[in-house]
Parts: sequence; structure tokens; C-alpha cells
Amino acid sequence: MSAERVAICPGSFDPITLGHDDIIRRSFRMADRVIVAVAYSATQPKSGMFTVEERVEMIRETFADEPRVQPMSFQGLLVDFARAQGADLIVRGLRAVSDFEYEFQMALMNRRLWEGMETVFLAPDLEHSYLSSSLVRQIAQLGGDVSPFVPENVLRRLQARFSKPA
Ligand code: PNS
Repeated sequence: MSAERVAICPGSFDPITLGHDDIIRRSFRMADRVIVAVAYSATQPKSGMFTVEERVEMIRETFADEPRVQPMSFQGLLVDFARAQGADLIVRGLRAVSDFEYEFQMALMNRRLWEGMETVFLAPDLEHSYLSSSLVRQIAQLGGDVSPFVPENVLRRLQARFSKPA
């Protein structure tokens, strides 16, 4: 019997988008279980639209149908958290060439910090290749329609937050 392969999909997820959803579901090609890990930002502890707890809750709702997804939050270094959880594979989505430099730097640094840490990059569905949480936040704040970009449960939260008083 082979050992369970645990991957980790880290990020800010403020909020989770259909692009993240796509990458997380694709990662089951390589892993039996995927930890979706929301990072507490040490440098900007108060920034963001949703709290880390809300982000984890939204991920939990999004993957209510998928027991192989384990939403968690973490503080400190990703490699330390991954190692403690028995995950030796980081999965990140690569949307465009512009993502590459930052992602490549993180992948090499993470492996330098822990030799056992590998990173794989997955290409998203073309439809999601221009999507980002920051654009979703901006569009929602300005009253635009984000329904094509986020799961239903996230849409409801955004609508509740930005609904205009009648
Ligand atoms: O969605 P994001 O904001 O691009 O995700 C960035 C994230 C959370 C993956 C990265 O900032 C991270 O791993 N933070 C944890 C702290 C850490 O390990 N930093 C060193 C990375 S080489």
C-alpha cells in the first residue's frame, strides 16, 4: 500500500476565487489530500478584506462536497507548517508570465529552507487566467458583478458586505 500524498496549496485567499477552486481541484492529479493553507501576514497583520478565519470558512463552504480538501490557517514559514503537516508538495497556479518571477523565487527559497519541499505550478483554465482576488475585491467594492469569478457562497458574503441601503 502506498503512503498518502499530501499537497499544500498556500495563499492569501482574500477571498477564494473560481481560479483557486480550479487549481485546487486539479491538484488531485498529484495528491490524495490537499491542505488549503491561508497565511496570516506577519508584515501586514491588519490588511485585507476578510479575516483569516472568514477566508478559511469560505474555503470550507466552497469544498463542502470535497472531503479531500482540508482548509487551515498558518502563521510563520510555509515550509515549517508544511513539514509539520506531512506535506512535501506545494501547488501554485501560474496565470501568466508576469507571475513567474515571484513564483520561481518562492519555489527556490522554499526548497532552500527545506530540501524536501517541491513546488509544482499548474495552469488554470483559460477562463480563469486573468482572475485575481485583488481584482475581485476592487470590482465588488465598486458595485460591479463578480458572480462569474467567485463561488456562490463567496458571492453571497460580498453582496452582504457591499449591498447598498435601499
Ligand atoms: O496568494 P499569495 O498572497 O500570492 O500567497 C503568498 C504566500 C502566502 C504563499 C506566501 O507569502 C507565503 O508562503 N507566506 C508564508 C511566509 C513564508 O513562508 N515566506 C517565505 C516564502 S519563500
